Amino acid sequence: MLVLFHFFIFCLFFSFLLFSGAMQLPVLTFPNANHTKHAKVQLTFPALHAVTVCSRVQWDTKASHVSTIFSYASPSFINEFQLRGQKDQKGDISLALIVHGHHTAYRTLFENDGMWHHVCVTWQNSNGKWAIFVDGKEGHSGVNVHSLQNIEGNGVFIIGQDQDVLGGNFSDAFSGNISDLNIWSEVLDKKQIEGVESCALIISFFVHFLFLTFSIHSCHSFSIAI
Ligand SMILES: *[C@@H]1O[C@H](CO)[C@@H](O)[C@H](O)[C@H]1NC(C)=O
Ligand SMILES: *[C@@H]1O[C@H](CO)[C@@H](O)[C@H](O)[C@H]1NC(C)=O
Ligand SMILES: *[C@@H]1O[C@H](CO)[C@@H](O)[C@H](O)[C@H]1NC(C)=O
Repeated sequence: MLVLFHFFIFCLFFSFLLFSGAMQLPVLTFPNANHTKHAKVQLTFPALHAVTVCSRVQWDTKASHVSTIFSYASPSFINEFQLRGQKDQKGDISLALIVHGHHTAYRTLFENDGMWHHVCVTWQNSNGKWAIFVDGKEGHSGVNVHSLQNIEGNGVFIIGQDQDVLGGNFSDAFSGNISDLNIWSEVLDKKQIEGVESCALIISFFVHFLFLTFSIHSCHSFSIAI
């Protein structure tokens, strides 16, 4: 409830900024597979018994390699928490989550249509339940992944690259655009994720109504709530 309430305020605040034209909306652009671009989240992470990461992604329709949306490496374990994707045999986009080295199976989750898609991942240690949501709907989930243990704290969170050492030796770069990345130190439920996803749609509706031009990724900026 608290999260939703905050989010509502957040939406209102950013719609105000949008209406007043005061805000440049950040989109991270990753041009191709061999670039070295990345963004580092400037945050000291606590140990996490639960986590949700949501973001909007625009996949490069030509990318044929494994693409890392984000990677979180801890000092004692590099592949601590990570979301990656690749084309399936039909050319659609499949995603997989990694928690403390446990790699879930890839599951096809959205069309390779070059559009913005909203992706959320959740994990909690109580039963090791994890889930991937796309455009507000749960697309893949499971249990017993890294259960009863925490995601280690004091790690490095990189957007757009896999880390082979803590904070460096990048590989499996993301190609496309990433915006609106949020991290919560709890599992958001389905309703809350729908709320996060529709924030832009709500604003988009109002802005469309007034100005007739707007794009879906323009909801708000990178914010960290952890
Ligand atoms: C990087 O990739 C682009 C196409 O994605 C290619 O044209 C370019 O030659 C590559 N550069 C290097 C240094 O490999
Ligand atoms: C990413 O955004 C840039 C700037 O808006 C755009 O030119 C580019 O086509 C986008 N990339 C993808 C993969 O859609
Ligand atoms: C990082 O990459 C460089 C260049 O490939 C390599 O020489 C170095 O050993 C790597 N570092 C680690 C810790 O693997």
